[in-house]
Amino acid sequence: MTDKSAQDRVLIFDTTLRDGEQSPGATMTHSEKLEIAELLDDMGVDIIEAGFPIASEGDFRAVKEIAERSREAVICGLARANFADIDRCWEAVKHSARPRIHTFIGTSPLHRAIPNLTQDEMADRIHQTVSHARNLCDNVQWSPMDATRTEHDYLCRVIEIAIKAGATTINIPDTVGYTAPRESAALIRMLKERVPGADTVIFATHCHNDLGMATANALAAVEAGARQIECTINGLGERAGNTALEEVVMALKVRNDIMPYRTRVDTTKIMNISRRVATVSGFPVQFNKAIVGKNAFAHESGIHQDGMLKNAETFEIMRPEDIGLTASNLVMGKHSGRAALRDKLRQLGHEVGDNQLKDIFVRFKELADRKKEVYDEDIVALVSATADAG
Ligand code: KIV
Ligand code: ZN
Repeated sequence: MTDKSAQDRVLIFDTTLRDGEQSPGATMTHSEKLEIAELLDDMGVDIIEAGFPIASEGDFRAVKEIAERSREAVICGLARANFADIDRCWEAVKHSARPRIHTFIGTSPLHRAIPNLTQDEMADRIHQTVSHARNLCDNVQWSPMDATRTEHDYLCRVIEIAIKAGATTINIPDTVGYTAPRESAALIRMLKERVPGADTVIFATHCHNDLGMATANALAAVEAGARQIECTINGLGERAGNTALEEVVMALKVRNDIMPYRTRVDTTKIMNISRRVATVSGFPVQFNKAIVGKNAFAHESGIHQDGMLKNAETFEIMRPEDIGLTASNLVMGKHSGRAALRDKLRQLGHEVGDNQLKDIFVRFKELADRKKEVYDEDIVALVSATADAG
């Protein structure tokens, strides 16, 4: 890789199986986790956070088996800042050709109060636990949980300690989805400027979506120098979820003109994995969800359908094929126009004359006023009815 292309490369760290699975009610079975990990590896995700090995025997088994089966991706496990968690994590991830230990501790005043540690005591704990992890594994990620609400001086201090102790990736979590894009960028820029040794590690961004800004915050962090985005399929995750993988990856692809960064993700695999995650997690995707929602490539209004039939770029900024769909969906409803109806009739194998089209169109509008969506079968029935009438 040339220097330039190394700088442009953004690593995709997927945490569907860890942060995503922590959504209340999103628990997946062992075989479902293996399947999702395989799909993630296949689509070119760089790092898969496969679980929290000390959380349960089941989590341990899943991380270990995902590590054993992994092909290209780095397999990562989560551990709190204590030796027992880190050892258990290592026991699970060491089976991967590319293991990573991810250890974290809450550094904001609110989070420091929970273990009741002084700033110095916490700094000492960070030094010990990151050094311990690094003695086991040469790929160590460290996260100051609630980084976006941690005092800047203290954040700089503990990140410097983690780097000196051997962390190779420093993740900056916006644990409660509190930050905003400008602030997210300024934080990464400040850390890269102020922390000694910052140029020797990769900075990651981990955003939650409580205010609906996770994707914008992650992209702003990248523009400021972060080179790893933590995300989940469909934005699954605690509370309002995490940055959605499909959103950041497609944003970087579609707006590469203003965000010139590359990922390794094969975007044509997005739709399939989105559907699988929705099914196995039991969390359906909202209809108007960006990229993967049922309506993301659907058009009902006459003006839009007419435009789409003439040139899809009039109302679509991505091609459906880019995410693994075969075509856009022109939904037949009361807002649809004559051009879309004629096109639909052709697709259904009916070439009708102008008079019959006029007749079908009138009946179609009446029907569409009564029904939310007019299906193919309804339209075929209208063809027969109008032919009989003629
Ligand atoms: O949101 C968060 O802070 C986390 C950490 C464990 C990285 O998920
Ligand atoms: Zn999180």
